Amino acid sequence: MSFKERLKKDNLPQHIAIIMDGNGRWAKGIGKLRIFGHQNGVSAVREAMEGCVDVGINYLTLYAFSSENWNRPKLEVRALMELLVNTLAKETKTFMDNGIKLQTIGNISDLPTNCQKTLADTIDLTKSNDQCVLTLALSYGSRTEIVDATKAIAQKVANGQLDIADIDEATISMHLYTHGTPDPDLMIRTSGEQRISNYLLYQMAYTELCFLDKMWPEFKREDLFEAIYNYQNRERRFGKTSEQL
Ligand code: FPP
Repeated sequence: MSFKERLKKDNLPQHIAIIMDGNGRWAKGIGKLRIFGHQNGVSAVREAMEGCVDVGINYLTLYAFSSENWNRPKLEVRALMELLVNTLAKETKTFMDNGIKLQTIGNISDLPTNCQKTLADTIDLTKSNDQCVLTLALSYGSRTEIVDATKAIAQKVANGQLDIADIDEATISMHLYTHGTPDPDLMIRTSGEQRISNYLLYQMAYTELCFLDKMWPEFKREDLFEAIYNYQNRERRFGKTSEQL
């Protein structure tokens, strides 16, 4: 039986976050340039999106470009930005056919203007889609996100709009870039690296982590289903004992 057939419909993660890692190493392994790895990573993005829609995952968040990725060679950064623009344009049909609504988190104003424009157009085009929300983390860093939230909250306190005593976990969540999106239930990272790399630090307090040995261009929807299957066979205790659940 395939992993998809083994999934329990009543215990699906509502939100899956992915760190798409290993494009460069995959390309190097077959004697190609790093950008070839990124180009081949696009089909894995499609696998992940369509796999999520197929089984009914409501939110998918992809780490497409971190704030630290700006330190990569200029040529690679430019190629990644071009790939993003071309992919968004090419995948319009995938978004519309699958009811995928696009949104972004991160400092989008850092991106080249043509990237910003294509993103804004695609967000507008897909705004009424209701099967799955695809969030692209672009020029994203979780510590900066937390700093920005802290500043916004402090500003409200200074303006008298918010009382310090009323600040709670929900206040922080509401001021993060991800406000309105539930915390991830499952985070998948490819490439064998076992770290979080400044991704959704506040949001992942209780997220189940899954580290795959495959490189991102090798990722198929069956890998997604296997990760969900493993997730369903874990016990999420949120600090309680097994007996209390
Ligand atoms: C990490 O692999 C991957 C990235 C920094 C970019 C991810 C981009 C894509 C999958 C393609 C385009 C995406 C969209 C959403 C259109 P790496 O380069 O760090 O690999 P390495 O660790 O082997 O060097």
